[in-house]
Amino acid sequence: MLKGKNIVLGVTGGIAAYKACDIVSRLIKLGADVHVIMTKAAMEFVAPLTFKTLTGNRVHTSLFDENEEGVPHIDLARKADAILVAPATANFTAKAACGIADDMLSATILAASDKKIIISPAMNTHMYENKAVQENLEKLKKRGFVIIKPASGRLACGDEGLGKLPETGEIVERVVSEIAFEKTLLGKRIMITAGPTEEAIDPVRYITNHSTGKMGYALARIAKAKGACVTLITGKTSLPKPLGVDVVEIVSARDMYREVTERYFDTDIVIKAAAVADFKPKSVNEQKTKKENGALNIELERTDDILAYLGKKKEHQILVGFCMETENLLENAKKKLEGKNLDIICANSLNVEGAGFGVDTNVITLIEKDGKVTELPMDTKERLAEVILDKVAEIN
Ligand code: CTP
Repeated sequence: MLKGKNIVLGVTGGIAAYKACDIVSRLIKLGADVHVIMTKAAMEFVAPLTFKTLTGNRVHTSLFDENEEGVPHIDLARKADAILVAPATANFTAKAACGIADDMLSATILAASDKKIIISPAMNTHMYENKAVQENLEKLKKRGFVIIKPASGRLACGDEGLGKLPETGEIVERVVSEIAFEKTLLGKRIMITAGPTEEAIDPVRYITNHSTGKMGYALARIAKAKGACVTLITGKTSLPKPLGVDVVEIVSARDMYREVTERYFDTDIVIKAAAVADFKPKSVNEQKTKKENGALNIELERTDDILAYLGKKKEHQILVGFCMETENLLENAKKKLEGKNLDIICANSLNVEGAGFGVDTNVITLIEKDGKVTELPMDTKERLAEVILDKVAEIN
């Protein structure tokens, strides 16, 4: 996702400096080229060699290093797609707010006035809440810096409260969201459904399916990173909530129907990646069903077909459906595309290796309303989400 992107990571002198190593490793795994600048205080906590080994690049620690070529703070500012400072101390924040440029990091920040600068403050709660720090952060925000709010919890000094560096995954997701994609869906309201539904038999048992929600969550994260305003209606999953997305948790097909239809007319694009149960028990036993009567017959009735309903009521919305088949993939998918009045259907076959429930990859064939069929090779669900959303942006 960050392939070809140059990220300058500023590390300043707080105890959370050790977490910057994990940030570097995650950015590199996403394809970024990372260039680390450390302040003098940061080197009290972590050795530059750690970052040099992780990034494969020289670590910048001084404005006046005679081994450096060119004018490093200008060169780094010029080539950066983004500058991330994590952790950012109170001292760094104050210097950046005042435009002081007395070390490699602050000078690079000053030289990067046209670049995306993201800072993740981490410090003691009382320091963080101090008006001086808050005013400095406010100043930077007004200048266009992206400020990641610290997390709350037990701090290294023993105090409780705001000031912790957020989870490193959260910081990296913010970088992705800021720079990884063109904002082709800026301002679009997208509703995405994900995960399985559960249809109760009694207070103990239910009918469900193998969906883990991975495809829908990938779509939500990437739609957000492409600038959309995203609502995710999700069945039960064990996935972390995508940042900056309005997440609505549901249990049954009926709940999903209610939440989706309530929002439909204020939505521009709907992508239904959820595996909705087609049948539910006709009646739900109030008490646990006992086995004393031998065999058990459960009468099932149809749930509402949410997507078919949306298709019928369609006004300006773009509708994207998914379908998972075990036979006659294209034929069945085309029937659903027409029958549910969709703009695109993403068809996948359970019989193909690398496709389906629980795995991080999928194999999808996109079929559009005008009959165009695009077979996509096996890829990660994230990458496929990108392709689907590009298609949506194209027809929008
Ligand atoms: N869908 C829905 N409501 C349902 C069933 C399905 O909104 N009650 C949506 C799914 O989210 C998916 C699309 O319809 O985007 C196709 O789902 P799928 O289960 O493949 O097809 P069905 O229409 O249920 O047909 P069948 O089960 O007979 O294959």
